[in-house]
Parts: sequence; C-alpha cells; structure tokens
Amino acid sequence: MSLPLPLLLLNILFSILLLPTPTTQSLPVAPISKDKSTNLFTISVSTKTPLRPTKLYLDLGFLFPWMVCDGATYNSSSFHSITCDPTFCADLGFGGLSCDNCTDFGPPDPNCVPSNLVCGAFPENPVTVDSISDEVLVDTLSLPTTDGPTLHHLPNFTFSCALSTLLKGLPKTATGLATLSRSKLSLQNQITPALNSFALCFPSSSKATGVAIFASTGPFYASLPSSSSSSKIDLSEYFIHTPLLINPVATGDTEITYADTLHSPQYFIGLTSIQVNGHSVPVNASLLTIRQDNGFGGTKISTATPYSVLESSIHKAFTQLFVKESSSSAFNLTPVSSPVKPFSVCYRASDIAVTRVGPLVPTVELVLHAANVVWRVLGANSMVRVTNKKKGLDLWCLGFVDGGINKKTPITIGGKQLEDNVVQFDLQSNMFGVTSSLLSHSLSCSDVNAYYFPRD
Ligand SMILES: *[C@@H]1O[C@H](CO)[C@@H](O)[C@H](O)[C@H]1NC(C)=O
Ligand SMILES: *[C@@H]1O[C@H](CO)[C@@H](O)[C@H](O)[C@H]1NC(C)=O
Ligand SMILES: *[C@@H]1O[C@H](CO)[C@@H](O)[C@H](O)[C@H]1NC(C)=O
Ligand SMILES: *[C@@H]1O[C@H](CO)[C@@H](O)[C@H](O)[C@H]1NC(C)=O
Repeated sequence: MSLPLPLLLLNILFSILLLPTPTTQSLPVAPISKDKSTNLFTISVSTKTPLRPTKLYLDLGFLFPWMVCDGATYNSSSFHSITCDPTFCADLGFGGLSCDNCTDFGPPDPNCVPSNLVCGAFPENPVTVDSISDEVLVDTLSLPTTDGPTLHHLPNFTFSCALSTLLKGLPKTATGLATLSRSKLSLQNQITPALNSFALCFPSSSKATGVAIFASTGPFYASLPSSSSSSKIDLSEYFIHTPLLINPVATGDTEITYADTLHSPQYFIGLTSIQVNGHSVPVNASLLTIRQDNGFGGTKISTATPYSVLESSIHKAFTQLFVKESSSSAFNLTPVSSPVKPFSVCYRASDIAVTRVGPLVPTVELVLHAANVVWRVLGANSMVRVTNKKKGLDLWCLGFVDGGINKKTPITIGGKQLEDNVVQFDLQSNMFGVTSSLLSHSLSCSDVNAYYFPRD
C-alpha cells in the first residue's frame, strides 16, 4: 500500500519523534540532598494519591522503610493496611511476625476495622536508636526516570507507619526513612526486584544536589560542566571494586532483636589496612574481620553517622599517625591544643592550603581486600571545617571520631567520607564500587545529577 507523499513524510517524522533513542535506557532516579544541620542525607520521591513530593532520610542499613502516617492526618486515597495472616505478615520482610490492632496507634486511623488485626512492624530511627510499634501500610510511591516526564510508579510500596516523634534527630525536611539496605523491602528492591543494583552520589553541601540511580549496573555518567551541554563522561574508569561482605548476625544492629532475620541488612567491606601518607596504621587485625559466631568485627558503610567512627584503639593509632605525618616538612602542621568535639585533631584553617580536592593534608588510603584496591580519602573527605565566629574559631578537624570499645562494628565509614564519590552497590554480583573523590577529576555530584536530571 502506498501513502500520499505528505502523509508518508508525516509518518516518517512521527516515527523519528516516537522512536526512543537507542542509547537511552529509562532508569528510575532520584535527587539526594544534604541537610545542613544534621549533615545527613535525604532522597526526594513522591508518595500518596494524589502524588505529593516528600523527602525521606536516606539510610543504608535498616530493614524496611517507614513514613509518618499518624492515622487521621494521613491523607491519601490509595492506602490500605494488610489483614493479618501470620505467615504472610512474616514473609513481607519486616523482620518478625507481628499482628497489631489498628486501634492501638496514635490518632485513630479512619480506615481501621477494629475486628481485624493488621500486619505490624517496629520502625526504628538508626540515628537515635529509638523504635516504636506501628502498622504496616501499602500506598503508592513514584520517582522520576531518565525518560523525561515518565514516572516510575510503585502502586504497592510497602512500608511501616510511624509517629512523628520517631523523626527526632533526622533532617527536619524528612517525613520518614528510605532504606537502600540488603533487604527485601529496601527501596531499590521494591523498585526493581529483578535488578538490585544502584549507585549513589552524596553532595558535599546543602546547596548542591546529588543523585541515586536505580536498576543499573552501569555505566554511570557525569555531564562535563566546562564543555558543550551534550558532552558526558563515563565514570567507569574511576571505579575500584571490592566484594560486599555479609555479616551473618543481625543482632546488635537494631534496638529490637529479630530472631528470624538471617543476616545483617547492612553493607560490609573487607578493609585490610588504613594508610596515612603511605604508612600503615598499626591495627589489631582481629578487629578487621567479621566473626561468624557473633557478628563482631569488620567495616561497614553507613549514612547514619555524618563522620567515620573508629574503635578506640584504631582511632588512637590513626590520629597519632595522622598528626605525625602532618608535622612532616611537607605539611609542617601542628594541631591546636583544644580540638572541637566530637573531633580530636584540629588545625587552624589559616595554616592549611586549600586545593581543588580540599585542604592539603596527608592522604588517607583505605586498602580493601587487595593491595592495589585502594579508596583514596583526600582532604575534602577527611577534614571537616569547624567555624564559630563568636569564639573566633576557624579550624579544619580530622573527620574520624572515636567510637569507644566493644562496639559490634569497629569501623564505620560515614557520610563525610562518601561525599562527591560515586558509590555503587551491586547486589547481583555482591560488589561494591567507589570512584574516590570526583573532585580530583574536576567533577562533583552536581555534575552526575546534571547528567541524570538534564532538565533542571
Ligand atoms: C486531602 O487531600 C485532598 C486532595 O489533595 C484535599 O482536597 C483535602 O483537602 C485534603 N484533606 C485534608 C484533611 O488535608
Ligand atoms: C481491637 O481493639 C478494639 C478496641 O480496644 C477492640 O474492640 C477489638 O476487639 C480489638 N480487635 C481485636 C481483633 O482484638
Ligand atoms: C498491587 O496489589 C494489588 C492488590 O493486591 C494487585 O492486584 C496488583 O497486581 C499489585 N500491583 C503490582 C504492580 O504489584
Ligand atoms: C585484639 O582484639 C581482640 C578482639 O577485640 C582482642 O580479643 C585481643 O585481645 C586484641 N589483641 C591485642 C593484642 O590487643
């Protein structure tokens, strides 16, 4: 059948317009922000019907997501609770069986049917380590995609309710917790259970915006800020990879002990040594290995702490070596006599030169499973600026804090050390990837965000 020429042209034009560009794969993405007062991160999504934008504290270790929904004030036309069937409630992934009477919670839930018990859970705030009991809800959650106006829509997003009192200690803008942990109910697993792999870029300032990229094993890109608007850079060559380790014991992760949880939902990596300026910090090696019987030992990655936390003996050895290396002729730095808590080593800002990769101090290297697999921590990720005009303070403090002794996990890599790095969690292959600072390539999380949100 032949078409008249104008129609044929129109047809071709339409095919061109409608055909997706073969190289563009539509991925669910979401902006990440840094909260100025807590130094914790939030992820922006939309929830409820009609959809409303909301920010959730971005967590990497808790078992399930939760949102504030004090019954009477939860305004959505699409939510429902789940009638309690003991096996089904347990299978959902909230960590333990609990059936609750919906009349027990906060302000009355208008949808509560008192004669039916519903699935319940124990939402917890990982920052304050507070937990409550509340009911499980199902409602919609949407997030943007790289395909322009198309949203990635989850009609059956499953989470626990919580009272607003549980938000204490989290960013003021947050209405709940989104977990990207190793668990069935994690946000990424609810988004694409078939492709549980994602990458994150945490911004270093409340004025910049980072990004979470879901359902992708890479490549991951950044826009090149200086060149023409269409050019991009594949960040693959900057990644180093190390296995994600499983801690077999979840007990101690949370206030509530879940008897039937198989393993910890937190992310562990095999840190084998810490180096400062090429010299090893002397560390009791048994602290670096996860004990299979009680889950003690090892190194985890967490956004629940704004700075890395080191067990006391490691912290002492690390800060001593850092102070020694900083006093060498290359840096010639002397710490101030009264450091600002929670830090224990601070230098006068006027004594330190600042470069594009942050203050010029000895490089910290986290050596992962092999000698050549090194996560480099430059000044921008090792030092924290502390200012107080009233007291006339202007310092750079070493952003690794003392975690005391007998902690389940002796080393926690925290928020400061993740900033302006792209970190990848690939649960298909159980690998962790990290770029080290994008600043050393004259890039930042804003440039990664700019690639995935070109319209902003
Ligand atoms: C609930 O949301 C609807 C739709 O956005 C709005 O019209 C209504 O006023 C809201 N009700 C309350 C109690 O906030
Ligand atoms: C739930 O609590 C209400 C009020 O206390 C009570 O009337 C109802 O029987 C309870 N439901 C169940 C299934 O126990
Ligand atoms: C959501 O749940 C409803 C009711 O349980 C079910 O019919 C529907 O298939 C689910 N949708 C998805 C996308 O899982
Ligand atoms: C090393 O750490 C382990 C576990 O905390 C402890 O039992 C052992 O005594 C420590 N060894 C030394 C030499 O401090």
